[in-house]
Amino acid sequence: MCGIVGFVGSEQAAPILLDGLRRLEYRGYDSSGIAVCGDCELRVKKVRGRLDVLSELTHQGADLPGTLGIGHTRWATHGEPNDVNAHPHVSSSGRIAVVHNGIIENYMELKNQLIQKGYTFRSETDTEVVAQLLDYYYDQCGDFFEAVMCMLNAVDGAYALGIVCADYPDRMYAARKDAPLLLGYGEGGNYIASDVTALIRYTRDIAYMDDGELAILSAGGIRIYDRQMRPVEKEHHHVDWEIDAAEKGGYAHFMLKEIMEQPRAIRDATAARIQNGRVVFSDLNMTPEQIRAIGKIYIVACGSSYHVGVVGKYNLERMLRRNVEVCLASEFRYSDPIVGEGDLVIVISQSGETLDTMAALREAKKRGARILSIVNVVGSSIARESDDVLYTWAGPEIAVATTKAYSTQMALLNLLGVYFGDIMGTVDYETYTDMVRGIQALPEQMEEILLRREEIHTLAQECAHHEDVFFIGRNLDYALSLEGSLKLKEISYIHSEAYASGELKHGTISLIEDGTLVIALSLYDPLFDKAMSNVVEVQARGARVLALTIDRRAAAMAERVPMVLPIPETEPMLQPQLGVVPLQLLAYYIALERGCDIDKPRNLAKSVTVE
Ligand code: M6R
Repeated sequence: MCGIVGFVGSEQAAPILLDGLRRLEYRGYDSSGIAVCGDCELRVKKVRGRLDVLSELTHQGADLPGTLGIGHTRWATHGEPNDVNAHPHVSSSGRIAVVHNGIIENYMELKNQLIQKGYTFRSETDTEVVAQLLDYYYDQCGDFFEAVMCMLNAVDGAYALGIVCADYPDRMYAARKDAPLLLGYGEGGNYIASDVTALIRYTRDIAYMDDGELAILSAGGIRIYDRQMRPVEKEHHHVDWEIDAAEKGGYAHFMLKEIMEQPRAIRDATAARIQNGRVVFSDLNMTPEQIRAIGKIYIVACGSSYHVGVVGKYNLERMLRRNVEVCLASEFRYSDPIVGEGDLVIVISQSGETLDTMAALREAKKRGARILSIVNVVGSSIARESDDVLYTWAGPEIAVATTKAYSTQMALLNLLGVYFGDIMGTVDYETYTDMVRGIQALPEQMEEILLRREEIHTLAQECAHHEDVFFIGRNLDYALSLEGSLKLKEISYIHSEAYASGELKHGTISLIEDGTLVIALSLYDPLFDKAMSNVVEVQARGARVLALTIDRRAAAMAERVPMVLPIPETEPMLQPQLGVVPLQLLAYYIALERGCDIDKPRNLAKSVTVE
């Protein structure tokens, strides 16, 4: 997704912008550019492709002298990825440059109005309209601040904007609505960025902009205004993520590093929430009465976060003895959902910025539901708009394919189930203690699996040549197979599907032929025999089966299946927490064998802030 960095201060801006953009590369992008103001002149360089190209083109920024600048990595939404459509966009006068994340919904209408006034457009983007509008208003009123205000009043849609004007080489403007943007307070100057990762090398003192706010940054300070142009005092946050935590730490890929971090991440997410064997959510504002009074429960999310929700549905229904609806956020928002006062909507998001999830949250909130979100990025939009936030504390997740965020989201959902079930009186003492002990033991059991990663690498080598893979499982194994399949397809580009095993015979089994790879999940022990008969069923059609099962069942499985991957056993409801680790590793090593760009798979972005 698009990334924004901006700097104003006493140092040269271009090297800071290039470095900041490099740290945002993980968000996914197809082009990049920077604009720098120096000697009352605006210099812009932008280009399609990797940042290295931009860096080379500008001689590592040396060609663009000046201490004020904005930079951007673009992920195309309007207009194909090319040099012209890349940001920054510059007004016709050549004096105003803009970087933008989001979508200006009324840009066609504004563009037509400006064309009638004699403006010509170079790009196909919605963003160029912002630059030209600023030009127009500045021309009309002669005051740039007023021009920015008029532009903000005219545009509809979502935006995080960084704006510079050559006539004001000592200040930068930033505005936000429905797209993330934060301010960084530094020693030698001040910053804007769409993501804290871009700034931690320069400052750890940050403030999150809220919707409707406008900031004016200079070397000496930052002034912030609300929609009514009243000055705003922002709460400052200290970022304690280490730079190292945002880099690869010795692993070949961020994805592997993040897989390996999972025992630590699970410990961080759960340890402080379990005290003397009891689940304690000091970060939850709901009273026991409110918890007992919960009406319907929805879980709403996208992608892997949605897959956590599918696991959550099985487990919460089991622990709370009530219906739990799990919905794709992109469907929920347009489904006229039957949700209202007294209902609880659990929103799950790593980034806290996924637009579909955000829109679903707002829809549910508008209808009166209480929003409890499970989020990784502190201070993100979803976190800020929720009634209750449980942070996963997984640390920055850089690889596009999520791993540790998935695991920690699931751990929190499981803990929440135990906690709610206890209050609602639906979880008995034995289940409560088994679940709590099980959660506490997860990090060590995960470490055991991680130590055997070379074994999984060998299996991956045997599977890497397949072009079609089916993941099958029942119940929690089905829920987990959804994630196993997504992990594999998104990073290895192998076509893969996840099926509830019992559903195969209703059509899909016709696709199984000699040599088709079927990854059979048989971790949910109450249904081991059923899983076994599905294995036999696909083998009879020629499938090559790789079975994932618990240690205790490995021998029985090995009697029928040549490739068996056994993992430690835990509470059946917690088994997906362990099962996901070998599936992540399998996907990782298969993608490695196929020479794929693992951390930045094609066509994907880490944070999906468009619809
Ligand atoms: O940041 P979110 O959890 O809201 O993101 C939702 C999905 O885009 C995300 O889980 C995606 O499916 C994963 N990156 C896939 O690995």
